[in-house]
Amino acid sequence: MLILGIETSCDETAVAVVRDGREMLSSAIASQVEEHAKYGGVVPEIASRRHSEVISQVLKKALEDAGIVLDNIDAVAVTYAPGLIGSLLVGVNYAKGLCLAKRIPLIPVHHLRAHIAANYICNKELEPPFLCLVVSGGHSHIVQANDYVNFEVLGRTKDDAAGEAFDKTARALGLPYPGGVFLDKIADKGNPKAFKLPSPKVEGHPLDMSFSGLKTSVINSIHNAKQKGEELEKADMAASVRCAIIDILTSRLMLAAQQIMTEKIVLAGGVSANSLLRKKLSDLCDKANIKLFMPTLSLCGDNAAMVASQGYYELAAGNIARMDLNATATIPIDA
Ligand code: KG4
Ligand code: ZN
Repeated sequence: MLILGIETSCDETAVAVVRDGREMLSSAIASQVEEHAKYGGVVPEIASRRHSEVISQVLKKALEDAGIVLDNIDAVAVTYAPGLIGSLLVGVNYAKGLCLAKRIPLIPVHHLRAHIAANYICNKELEPPFLCLVVSGGHSHIVQANDYVNFEVLGRTKDDAAGEAFDKTARALGLPYPGGVFLDKIADKGNPKAFKLPSPKVEGHPLDMSFSGLKTSVINSIHNAKQKGEELEKADMAASVRCAIIDILTSRLMLAAQQIMTEKIVLAGGVSANSLLRKKLSDLCDKANIKLFMPTLSLCGDNAAMVASQGYYELAAGNIARMDLNATATIPIDA
């Protein structure tokens, strides 16, 4: 079965073709990153306009790269939530148009479920159940995947998402947008023990996380250095921030793994590209005798192949949308 995936939840316009949920035939992405970098973050109005402008070209490329035509497609899977509402609507309406024209099913896909599904493309043997850390620009969840379409959130951030924490601290350090990837790079040259940063526990909820104090801490350190007439060593601060964020994520995840006695851990979302997170989790899982699955770097960030992959399993579970499907800015993964 050939599924066309469409992803427009944030600032990437993506269309892809995936066979039987696992075999990626194409994955076309038009990124708006350079345009939003001028403003230091995603401007929702610009994002939705650009999606409308380029989506037809991205579809054309995805079909060409896959060596097929639209008539070969069996169903269209689209991210309908969560995300920027104007951006989501472009993808949802475009998908509806294709489904009406070709009389094929429309499959609604949750963006975080799609991030998890990126792993089915990279790891052909991976099957639920497993424990999953989903870390993106907007979400940080520890999720138990009972099957392909049944999820239970065991832990979550109480404030900023991990990606947001990377981006905000990177911005405070004067790094370009999107900060996470730049902070990850310069952190390699710094000393992770140079600065002591907050690592708050959430009272009564050992699997929950909090990242909002990090940005304040970085800003305070910059001010303190200035008052002393010193220049803050950016690489040291980047290394300390990265270490603090990854410690919070991995400690909660490994605690959850212990609690549910899982044999498999899956990493998902944009932050799964982080080099320290990948290395540290590999080491921890090795020690705990847990098999770790991670997406290849090209499938960590937003793409439509992951949407088509999850779409295959949603369709198999009978999840087909009506033509009045609406986009939703927030909806839990376990809804
Ligand atoms: O999943 P994603 O592409 O978009 C959302 O669904 O939000 O995640 C984007 C987030 C951004 O916050 C970005 O800074 C972060 O992932 N990110 C990273 C790295 N690469 C991307 N954070 C830390 N280290 C990285 N190497
Ligand atoms: Zn994402």
